[in-house]
Amino acid sequence: MRIKYTISVVFFVALVIIEKENNIISRVSDKLSIKQTPDAADAPVHTGCLSRLPLKPNVSSPSLSKMNSAFTLMKRRLENYSERRVAARRGRKHILLLATTRTGSSFVGEFFNRQVDNMFYLFEPLWHVEKMLTLEGGGTNATVAAGAYRDVLRQLFLCDFSLLEGFVDPPPVDHVTAALFRRESSISLCEESVCSPFVKGVFEPYHCRSRRCGPLNLTLASQSCLRKEHRVIKSVRVRQLETLRPLAEDPRLDVRFIQLVRDPRAVLASRMVAFEAKYRNWKEWAASGDVPLDDDEVRKLKGNCDNIRMSAEIGLRRPAWLHGRYMLVRYEDIARFPMRKAAEMYRFAGIPFTPKAKAWIQRNTQASKKSSSVYSTQKNSSEQVEKWRFSLPYKLAQVVQSVCGPTLKLFGYKIVSSEEMLTDKTVSLIEDKVFNLV
Ligand SMILES: *[C@@H]1O[C@H](CO)[C@@H](O)[C@H](O)[C@H]1NC(C)=O
Ligand SMILES: *[C@@H]1O[C@H](CO)[C@@H](O)[C@H](O)[C@H]1NC(C)=O
Ligand SMILES: *[C@@H]1O[C@H](CO)[C@@H](O)[C@H](O)[C@H]1NC(C)=O
Ligand SMILES: *[C@@H]1O[C@H](CO)[C@@H](O)[C@H](O)[C@H]1NC(C)=O
Ligand SMILES: *[C@@H]1O[C@H](CO)[C@@H](O)[C@H](O)[C@H]1NC(C)=O
Repeated sequence: MRIKYTISVVFFVALVIIEKENNIISRVSDKLSIKQTPDAADAPVHTGCLSRLPLKPNVSSPSLSKMNSAFTLMKRRLENYSERRVAARRGRKHILLLATTRTGSSFVGEFFNRQVDNMFYLFEPLWHVEKMLTLEGGGTNATVAAGAYRDVLRQLFLCDFSLLEGFVDPPPVDHVTAALFRRESSISLCEESVCSPFVKGVFEPYHCRSRRCGPLNLTLASQSCLRKEHRVIKSVRVRQLETLRPLAEDPRLDVRFIQLVRDPRAVLASRMVAFEAKYRNWKEWAASGDVPLDDDEVRKLKGNCDNIRMSAEIGLRRPAWLHGRYMLVRYEDIARFPMRKAAEMYRFAGIPFTPKAKAWIQRNTQASKKSSSVYSTQKNSSEQVEKWRFSLPYKLAQVVQSVCGPTLKLFGYKIVSSEEMLTDKTVSLIEDKVFNLV
């Protein structure tokens, strides 16, 4: 009887703590090893919490039956809780690489894509969603798009392609499609097990390069996804991190967000080269020296900067729902220290960094006569990263600074106050900054 009392009291108090301090439990249990049984894993949590409480139970006050029912309730909740925690604790991670175009997200995606043995990687699946939701005048309704992105991402993290299928055009037939955007950029979607027999005469714009496959059978893709230990999705389409909060709170997922950012002045310079036609206005403004600040293009630039900054601000504020789930990475740091940053990302993700992925990074960032990528360390990479300073007219740098000032400041990009400063090689515009206390 005595023992039962003691146990009941202990569990009763633990129940109260669990209700109140869910956070501590999830934090502590995250640290516990996968191998532990739920009971063993939960035990130290109780001890730890109890020792901090002025615990003087008046054993004679509540009746035995009350204690028993509390005990039963407690047990049920603990079991339910453990079940959910165990699902997450099995070690499966869901990584979302959040970026905007020209921030090196494809390259960073490769860090994970190349670790193909235990990683299911998808490259821009939301492309289809954005395309389908694009309004007549261009652009999407941000609210509608955000909801669709969130729901599709959630399903994809669970290896379910059905919602995405609804956005693929032409619609898949029997879950088979020849049109999945950039299929070939995802090693997982071109593996032997996902490779259907080649079909002659079917045009596949995104056909596998590594082997000859027929149109993608999404059932096979889903099966492959389920077999892989971790799931990684890269997207340049999510605008506000906050819209993904339900993913972070979904007990079936263990989501980690990695937000990639880059100096918006460099992004503009890069986009003016990559998307020449779209950025013709900017070229003309640069030539005439007159930028209409109320132009749609400038407003869009400001909107992008604000979205990126607000997402980062939320992440860096570390609200409870994002605790341990957010990492900010600057393009410039990846370009200068690729291996170090990759190791940090893997550590943050809670995934072992395998020699295979390391070897790929080594090969693709080392001096190579053919490589002219900004990630090549053949030339001085610090210089490479700041090369945009010689291609972006000062006038445009000023415009970016005037509409993206707070964004530049948050990420540690120095403002230039003259054309001389912009092109002064001896002054780096990248401040050393540590964002993540990993
Ligand atoms: C314990 O509870 C009983 C009955 O409610 C009460 O009479 C007694 O004073 C309490 N003892 C202490 C130490 O609080
Ligand atoms: C377990 O917890 C979840 C989330 O709080 C709840 O939706 C579900 O109904 C619970 N299940 C049981 C069996 O209590
Ligand atoms: C976006 O769509 C929602 C829901 O359909 C609608 O209420 C809202 O007015 C739309 N927003 C804009 C800017 O069109
Ligand atoms: C796709 O793969 C599944 C699983 O192997 C198979 O049952 C199905 O018949 C395939 N679909 C087509 C259209 O071949
Ligand atoms: C690379 O360039 C930066 C800036 O010009 C300079 O500070 C640094 O010493 C250079 N590093 C090497 C290895 O040349």
